[in-house]
Amino acid sequence: MPIELKGLEEIALMRQAGRAVAEVLVILREEIRPGLMLKKLDDIVRREFAKRKVVPTFLHYQGYPARVCVSVNDEVVHGMPDRRVLQEGDIVSIDLGATRKGFVGDAAITVGVGRISPEAERLVRVTEEALWQGIKAAKAGARLGQVSAAIQAHAEGNGFSVVREYVGHGVGRSMHEEPQVPNFGPPDRGPLLQKGMTLALEPMVTAGDWQTKKDPDGWTVRTADGSFAAHFEHTIVITEGEAEVLTLP
Ligand code: MF3
Ligand code: CO
Repeated sequence: MPIELKGLEEIALMRQAGRAVAEVLVILREEIRPGLMLKKLDDIVRREFAKRKVVPTFLHYQGYPARVCVSVNDEVVHGMPDRRVLQEGDIVSIDLGATRKGFVGDAAITVGVGRISPEAERLVRVTEEALWQGIKAAKAGARLGQVSAAIQAHAEGNGFSVVREYVGHGVGRSMHEEPQVPNFGPPDRGPLLQKGMTLALEPMVTAGDWQTKKDPDGWTVRTADGSFAAHFEHTIVITEGEAEVLTLP
């Protein structure tokens, strides 16, 4: 499948989906505190998405049972909002997708619970910075590999590792479109970026090694070495200038 270039109307719908995701992530972030039971986040998404007339993209995707992914500490991605309870010092990644008239917005943030260690704080900060380095590199005429390399350089330059087994992706008419967007690799690789490409950049960064393992639940991905992981994601569209970020509130 070739990479689909979106037109103005498609981008307008993705902007609506993206804004809903971003607004609800702000609400979820404010709920994060010691004692929170994770399934409460899923209830909030149900209520807030109904208000905004968007549909939860993740629910039933390949059998996924919830509206939001919630990954704590050594969990990298695809953790579930179940009866687990947050504790002071945890870091929690919240990944959310919304569909509006068939178009998808996808974003993720990582948040500290109460006071967290300086090293966890630095992991979260560097991962968000790596995402923005990727966004800055995502310009028409550049190669996709330049985005990947920018993300990797920032994470590894700060002593962290980037996950290899999960990557960012094209996004729009479905949650996962061409191309894959690795968070690692040489800058001279991949397609040339063109105006109208819509991409989800999503660095997953670990404090230890990059290898992951999947839990018996079939979803939860955690670091193989038990180190903490952080995850930030935005949906963007390539323009003639700086990429436009579609998942800002
Ligand atoms: N936002 C994620 C991604 O980009 C997670 C979705 S997985 C799901 O792949 F199964 F929960 F939908
Ligand atoms: Co994604």
